[in-house]
Amino acid sequence: MSIHTVATAPIEGQKPGTSGLRKKTPVFMGPHYLENFVQSIFNGTGGADGKTYVLGGDGRYFNDRAAQVILRMAAANGAKKVIVGQNAILSTPAASHLIRKRGTDGGIIMSASHNPGGPNEDFGVKFNAANGGPAPEGMTEKIFAETKTLTAYKMLDAQDVDLSTPGTTSLGAMEIEVVDPVADYQDLMAEIFDFDAIRALFAGGFRMRFDAMHAVTGPYARAILEGTLGAPAGSVINAAPSPDFGGGHPDPNPIWAKPLMEEMYGDNAPDFGAASDGDGDRNMIVGKGAYVTPSDSLAVLAANATLVPAYAGGLRGVARSMPTSGAVDRVADSLGIACYETPTGWKFFGNLLDAGRATLCGEESAGTGSDHVREKDGLWAVLFWLNVLAKRGQSVADIMTDHWARFGRNYYSRHDYEAVDSAAANGLMDAVRGQLATLPGSSVAGLTVTGADEFAYDDPVDGSRSEGQGLRMMFEGGGRVVLRLSGTGTEGATLRVYLERLETDSAQMDKDPQDALADVIAAADAIAGITSRTGRDAPDVIT
Ligand code: G6P
Ligand code: ZN
Repeated sequence: MSIHTVATAPIEGQKPGTSGLRKKTPVFMGPHYLENFVQSIFNGTGGADGKTYVLGGDGRYFNDRAAQVILRMAAANGAKKVIVGQNAILSTPAASHLIRKRGTDGGIIMSASHNPGGPNEDFGVKFNAANGGPAPEGMTEKIFAETKTLTAYKMLDAQDVDLSTPGTTSLGAMEIEVVDPVADYQDLMAEIFDFDAIRALFAGGFRMRFDAMHAVTGPYARAILEGTLGAPAGSVINAAPSPDFGGGHPDPNPIWAKPLMEEMYGDNAPDFGAASDGDGDRNMIVGKGAYVTPSDSLAVLAANATLVPAYAGGLRGVARSMPTSGAVDRVADSLGIACYETPTGWKFFGNLLDAGRATLCGEESAGTGSDHVREKDGLWAVLFWLNVLAKRGQSVADIMTDHWARFGRNYYSRHDYEAVDSAAANGLMDAVRGQLATLPGSSVAGLTVTGADEFAYDDPVDGSRSEGQGLRMMFEGGGRVVLRLSGTGTEGATLRVYLERLETDSAQMDKDPQDALADVIAAADAIAGITSRTGRDAPDVIT
C-alpha cells in the first residue's frame, strides 16, 4: 500500500456553514471535492499525524463511499486510529459521545442533517473537536483558509475496508475499530434516565409513536424504546435507515412529519408522539392533540429536570439561541439560575457546557440537549419527556396547561421563505438593517417598537465576539420579531422570520399561535416588506 500525494487546486465555496459543509451530493462527488475538504480539515487542525478520530454518518447516499475515502486519507496523513460506526453509521449525538468517551482528537461526521438525501439531494461533512462538539468558529475559519490555498492531498492506495462487522482491523499503519453504533449511546441513556419508571409506564399500557423518518435514529429507537423499555413492537415507525430517507425530508416538524401529526391529532391517537431528523440530533414532541414547540419543550424540561436522575441535583444554568423564545428564561428566573442567549448554532453552547455554566441548552430549530454530550440529542429529548411523563403521571396537554398557568405562554412561530433569490434576501436584510436606528419609538401595524438591533454575542468563556447574528425588533408588551438568513441551505437564500409574543392572561392560553401572533406578523411584514421583496404571499414552511 503506497501513499500518494495528489496535486489539486483550491475549490470555491468550501466555507462551512452553521453546521459543517453542505452541498448537493453531485458537487461532493465531483473531482477532488471531498478530498480537498478532508485534507483541509486535517491541515486546519494541526495535521492528523498520530491522532485518533471517530468516523460515522447518517447513512445517506454516498455515506459509504465517502467513509472509505476519509479512511484512506486519514491513514495517508498518519492518523493512529479511527473508530468507525458499523457500516459507517453513527448518529451525531452518538458520535459526540464516542469522541468524549474514548478521548479522541475529534471526529468526522458525514451528514447534511435534516436536508433530504440521495443522488441529487444533499450531502455534508462536519468536523467535531475533542470535546465532542461542532468545531468552534475559529477552527472552521482555519479549515476554510486551508481550502483556499490547498495544493495537494494525501491518499493511501488501498482496497475498501470491511465495515460490516464490529472488530479491529488495519489500513496501512492505521488501526480501525468498527463499533456497534448503538451500544455506548444506549449505556449513556441508561445512566441519565429513570429507565425503571419508563418501563413501568409502558407496562401500564402507555402508547407512543416514534417516527424515525427513515433516518439514523431507527436502530437506536428500536433498541432502546422497544428493546429495553418495553414499548410495544411497532411503536417505532420508518425505522430502517435508507440512503434517500424514503424519498422524504427528514426534518421533524409539523410539515415534514405530517403523517405523525395527523395520527396524534386523529381518533385513537397514542399518548405520545416524537420524531427525529436525518442524523438524530433534532426532535419533535407532540402529545395527544398537543404539539409542543421546541422553545416550550426546552422550558418544560428545565422546569422538570429534577425528576431525571442525572439532573436531580438541579441545573447549573440554561442556554438558548437568540431566536428561541423566552419561555426558558422565565423558568430560569424562577429557579434562580443563569440563562445565556447565544447565536444560532449548537457550537456556541460548547464553551458554556465545557465551563459548567449551563446544563441544558436548546434551540427553536428542534434542538435540545445537555452536558451529557456536546451536540443536541433527539432521542435524549424523547427519553427526557418519557421520564417526566412517567414521574408526573399526566398527559402532555396537561403538563403544558400547568406550565403556561405557572410561567405564562410565549406564543411562538417561525415562518420560512425558502430558495429566495439571494440578492432579494440580502436586500431585505440590508433594508431592515438601515431602519434599526430609527425604529425604536415608532408605531408599526399598531405596535410600538421598544428596541431594535443586530444581535452580537460576546462569549463569556473565551471572550470571542460573533457579530451579524440576526436582526431583532422588540415591541411593547413583550412581542418580538427576529429576521435571519439560514446558514444551512444549499439553494438560494432561506429567510427565517421568528415571531413571539408573551401572554400572561390565564384566559388566553389556548389560541392558535398564528392568531395570537397576528399583530406581530403584520408588523414584521410592514417593517421588512417580505411579500414585496420576496415575491411570496405566504411562507413555505410554518413551524
Ligand atoms: C443546524 C445546527 C443548529 C442550528 C440550525 C440552524 O441544525 O446544528 O444548531 O440551530 O442548524 O439552521 P439555520 O438553517 O437556521 O441556519
Ligand atoms: Zn441534524
